[in-house]
Amino acid sequence: MEQKSILVTGGAGYIGSHTVLQLLLGGYRAVIVDNLDNSSQIAVERVQKLAGEYGPNLSFHQIDLRDKPALEQLFVTTKFEAVIHFAGLKAVGESVQKPLMYYDNNLIGTIVLLEVMAAHGCKKLVFSSSATVYGWPKEVPCTEEFPLSATNPYGRTKLFIEEICRDIYQSDSEWKIILLRYFNPVGAHPSGDIGEDPRGIPNNLMPFVQQVAVGRRPALTVFGTDYSTADGTGVRDYIHVVDLADGHISALNKLSDPSVGCEVYNLGTGKGTSVLEMVAAFEKASGKKIPLVLAGRRPGDAEVVYASTDKAAHELTWKAKYGIDEMCRDQWNWASKNPYGYESPDSTA
Ligand code: NAD
Ligand code: WQD
Repeated sequence: MEQKSILVTGGAGYIGSHTVLQLLLGGYRAVIVDNLDNSSQIAVERVQKLAGEYGPNLSFHQIDLRDKPALEQLFVTTKFEAVIHFAGLKAVGESVQKPLMYYDNNLIGTIVLLEVMAAHGCKKLVFSSSATVYGWPKEVPCTEEFPLSATNPYGRTKLFIEEICRDIYQSDSEWKIILLRYFNPVGAHPSGDIGEDPRGIPNNLMPFVQQVAVGRRPALTVFGTDYSTADGTGVRDYIHVVDLADGHISALNKLSDPSVGCEVYNLGTGKGTSVLEMVAAFEKASGKKIPLVLAGRRPGDAEVVYASTDKAAHELTWKAKYGIDEMCRDQWNWASKNPYGYESPDSTA
């Protein structure tokens, strides 16, 4: 049987690299398009190595999605079964400072991709949306039917792209689109060879905790201790990145179901964990003490967010397998092997 080729935009990044590995192990060919704006080619090399005998089924192209002729050329030479579209900028604070940069990169990049896909008759797409589209939810767990809102330009790009996808499906029912709303991806591949390697000061909780643990930062600032939660800190639905990656394989399989049009699924665990609970789990996994500075709330933060997982469980037959102990174990394994991310001396050699 001929192997199916999947185009993975943003495949050198955190979630993309883990998904590409699962694709290769699942027998797919994977073609990565990434401009390396927030990633390293070393991640691609490590994925290739981890994939063993399947490694040769991976190819990488350093292309910006907005470079239409370059993307066209790729579609001329390869027939893609589907596209998994991760590429985008994702820092909430930066999006407030530089909204046009976010609209240009995320929206124009996506529009160019969709145009080229349509022109080449590739109309199957899995898109990285985000729980950020639930804003500050009035109740939990968040179901896919909840009202949508955005509190910053980054979130608005996710909302707009979801709407664009619904519109193109309305205009042409040959499209099959799955919008995946991720909750809070954390952890790393159990090998410790690939993981999250943010540039600059991490925005998100676990990359920050990890950098404190390896001595790169003195303390974690806890944003808000007066929420109406058991310990006063914010509650989120943390999901192991390998579970998340597997969710994409399930979504890809679902695209072959004739009943699929433009569908949306939450990818989360359905469990809420507070900041302090997460820190305690990481301390247990790493044996490191994480000094804390208790501070006020971060503007725009919701109090409690976690997913309803029923729809993904029933329709994608996918469920997260890992809990926070495994997330922290694998995060620490990655951090201790690569304290400076992909710039660390090569621990895999
Ligand atoms: P990441 O930054 O590690 O990966 C994104 C990749 O896209 C990077 O490798 C970057 O170089 C590439 N890229 C960006 N703009 C590009 C362009 N114009 N052309 C080509 N490549 C481009 O981020 P991630 O955490 O892996 O997130 C992947 C996707 O999932 C993003 O769309 C993000 O918004 C979404 N998401 C992430 C989270 C999270 O917490 N990590 C949560 C929800 C949704
Ligand atoms: C988690 C909890 C913080 C950092 C963001 C984006 C969202 C999505 C995922 C892409 C909160 C607290 C954090 C720190 C802290 N990304 N915290 N000290 O805010 O749920 O979601 O990432 O789509 O769009 O908004 O994740 O990891 O930033 O925060 O106390 O240094 O940790 O207040 O309660 P968040 P996060």
